[in-house]
Amino acid sequence: PVERSLVLVKPDAVRRGLLGEILARFERKGLVIEALEMRTMDATLADQHYADHVEKAFYPPLKQFMTSGPLAALVLAGDNVIEVVRAMIGATDGRKAAAGTIRGDYSLSNRENLVHASDSPESAARELALWFPKI
Ligand code: CMP
Repeated sequence: PVERSLVLVKPDAVRRGLLGEILARFERKGLVIEALEMRTMDATLADQHYADHVEKAFYPPLKQFMTSGPLAALVLAGDNVIEVVRAMIGATDGRKAAAGTIRGDYSLSNRENLVHASDSPESAARELALWFPKI
């Protein structure tokens, strides 16, 4: 089924000049970029986006990182896009992510891992409403 996913190309990727490379991978795969916006997350949006993580020990530095500069927020569409994009970005920890995935190829960090993507249809619905309320 054609689905939509909320994808964030995180501040580390933008700072490192990897935005174009990452967008190109999604395009070459055949996914459709339905919306694309440069945004800087503020504290409120961070707390809402990461509602499941706000109590965790890794959250304060994660929030600091995610609000540290511009990121690219995308709506990606395609057949099974939620699962497809998760496979393309790889495991959370860049040191463990498989070669050939975005994190496996470009990240050595568990926090600065370049890309966020919705992990289920339920999170996609919640995150899309949060980032792109008009779509
Ligand atoms: P993301 O897919 O955006 O979802 C939660 C984020 O928290 C994750 O990517 C990482 O950036 C970060 N994260 C998850 N687990 C850890 C951890 N153990 N230590 C530091 N950061 C983490």
